[in-house]
Formats: sequence, C-alpha cells, structure tokens
Amino acid sequence: MDGATDLDARVRAGAWRVLEQAWQQALGYCRPHRRAYPHLWLWDSCFHSIAWSAFGDERAVDELAAVFEGQFANGFLPHMRYGRRTYKRGPLATVSSFTQPPVHVRAIAAARAAGLTSSDKLIEHASRALDALWRLRMRDGLLVIVHPWEAGTDDSPRWDAWVGSTSWQRRRWSRVDRHLLATTVFSDDGVAVDNSEFVVAPASFNAIAADAAITLASLTGDDEWRTRGVSLMETLDERAWDDAIGQWADVVLVGPVDSSRTPTSDAVLPALCVDNSGHAVTALSQLTDPALFAAAYGPRFTPASEPAYRADAYWRGPAWPQLNYLTVLAARRCGMTELADELTNATKRGALRSGFAEYWNPDTGEGLGAIPQTWAAVTAAL
Ligand code: GLC
Repeated sequence: MDGATDLDARVRAGAWRVLEQAWQQALGYCRPHRRAYPHLWLWDSCFHSIAWSAFGDERAVDELAAVFEGQFANGFLPHMRYGRRTYKRGPLATVSSFTQPPVHVRAIAAARAAGLTSSDKLIEHASRALDALWRLRMRDGLLVIVHPWEAGTDDSPRWDAWVGSTSWQRRRWSRVDRHLLATTVFSDDGVAVDNSEFVVAPASFNAIAADAAITLASLTGDDEWRTRGVSLMETLDERAWDDAIGQWADVVLVGPVDSSRTPTSDAVLPALCVDNSGHAVTALSQLTDPALFAAAYGPRFTPASEPAYRADAYWRGPAWPQLNYLTVLAARRCGMTELADELTNATKRGALRSGFAEYWNPDTGEGLGAIPQTWAAVTAAL
C-alpha cells in the first residue's frame, strides 16, 4: 500500500469503529459522545449522516430521519433533541428552542450520491426547515441567529465583545450563555425568534444556509431555492466582505460590533457558494499561510497572530473536523485542488493522531474535548 492509501484505509477503519460504537439502534442516531454529549445535535447528526453515506450505510437516512423527528409544526428545526435527561435550551422539555447550521441538505445530497434513494422522502422536511429559517430569521436580507449556540461555534472569538474579554475562561462564557438565554424572546410555540442583546448574521451560518438552498434547488429542480440562496450570498458579500481581514465579517444587528471582524476559519465558508470568486480565493488562500491559519493538523480556528489565539482551548484555535469537511468542499468548488488535498490530508492525520477527537491541537494533533467524538468520522467522506 502507498502512503495515501494506507492513510485512507486507517481513517476508514477508525471512522467505522467510532460510528458503530456511537450508534443507538433504539433511537436511530449516534450520540456525539457517550458522556459529554448524550443527546442529538442537529449539525452533528448531519455530519454523522455524511459519514454513514461514505460507507453506503442506510443509517445515513435513519440519522437524518431522527433529526427531523424534532421538527416543529412550523418547520423550524431544533438544535437538540434531548436524550434521557432534559437540558435547559429554552422553555420546552424535549427539544431545544434554538437551531444550528442547516447542514441537512448537504447530508441528503451525500446520501443520494451514495445511492441511498430512501433519502428522497426527507427532502420535504428539509425544504420546510429552510423555509422556516427564511420566514422566521430573515432581517434586512440576511439570516440571523439569536444565541451564539446557533452558529455551532460556541466560544468563538467573534462573540468576545459580549463576554468583554479576549482571554478565554469557560466559566465566564457559561455566565454569558445563560444571560443570553434569559434575554431570548420565544414565540408561543417555543421557537427562539429574537434576543434583546444578541441578533447577529454570521458569515458562516449564512453561507451554510445559502449553500443548502442552492443544493436543494439542484436536488429538486425548484429554482426558487437557487434564487433565494444566490440572493442571500449577494447580500452577505455586499454587506460583510472586509478587505482588511480578507474574509467576511459577521453583521451585528443587536449587540456590540467590536469582535465581529476577528478572523476565524469558519468565516471562509461563503466560498462554498458566493459568486465573487476573487473574494472566495482571497479568503481560502489565508488557510495556506503558516503565520495565520495553516498548521500541520490545521487549519487553526483563529490565526496564530491573534491575541485571542490558544491552540488548546475550545473554539479559540484548535482544528475542527466538521469545519474542515465543509472547507474542503469550498476549496474544490473554487478549483483550489492543492489546498483541498492539503486540508484533506491534515484532517485525516489529525483524526488519527487525536483518536477521532471533537477537536485537536493544530500543531501537534493532540486530541482535545470529547474523545472520540462521532463527527470526526466525517473524515472518511473526504
Ligand atoms: C458543542 C459545539 C457544537 C456541537 C455540540 C455537540 O456545543 O460547540 O457545535 O454541536 O458541542 O457536539
């Protein structure tokens, strides 16, 4: 076996073990981690599904069906369905009132590409979920989130202005999380619809949603979705592109703006679907610069040059396998094959070295957070 084939084989074997061990037959989904994360999380399960599809396994479809089981009557998709114990993410006992990036359309596309045609019945759920986002969360042409949890990047330096510090401490963040939970406004049916202190249109959330809309159009032939996705990206590119950082900033509608331009690796994701190829290439190119994002097991979540950077701390610098997966798709779309191959290799080596960790040190590959974390199995799909 040559080097690449050997790496691939070890990644596939490891990913399969992680998926099998996390699978809960009675519930129809994988827990992200047995002790640290014993519930269903929206975007985690989408990445699990993409991983199952890489093995041609029907559990790809089961896992998405489990995600949609939590869908509200109005189409809104909660970011968590609780396992055995409840969890305080809004007023409801069984599901969260918040959402997370809509990776589900990419997951359906992956299932279909793997020949799992039973995924077709999920398309209606996916359209209703996207439609709810467009209806409930569209402000001034952009989609907004009303709590940092909804971006999926919980303790990102982009939220530092709310915390009032760039030096990271989980306890301080928990206080802010709880405070922003208390200032959230919920509709009568329990959906988070507003927040008196936090309304933000993140570059990455909008990118993933626009990509979902455009992908949905190609799956269904319904061009209305392409129009919505393209228009969302045009607005983001117009309002949020920032030459000084070579990325898209977040647009803050309610709250302090000071940290919204901190460079982070998820802020290159508009390259998944933005029309402006100049901006896409500029943003992605930064991932090749060792003074910024590039690292042996990278990319770093935050550039090494930032005061907020910490190679080992939660959302402050480590590499994240699920983001890498999306970034590789973006690089391939932009014809940056060398970057896509480098990221693929770095991610596979990181997954192996870290023991399929939730996230890892971008320089050493040391596993951090929960180990193993099921979404690291998405590396098998690269
Ligand atoms: C953390 C992450 C979030 C993820 C969840 C479960 O809260 O920030 O993105 O979905 O863990 O893995």
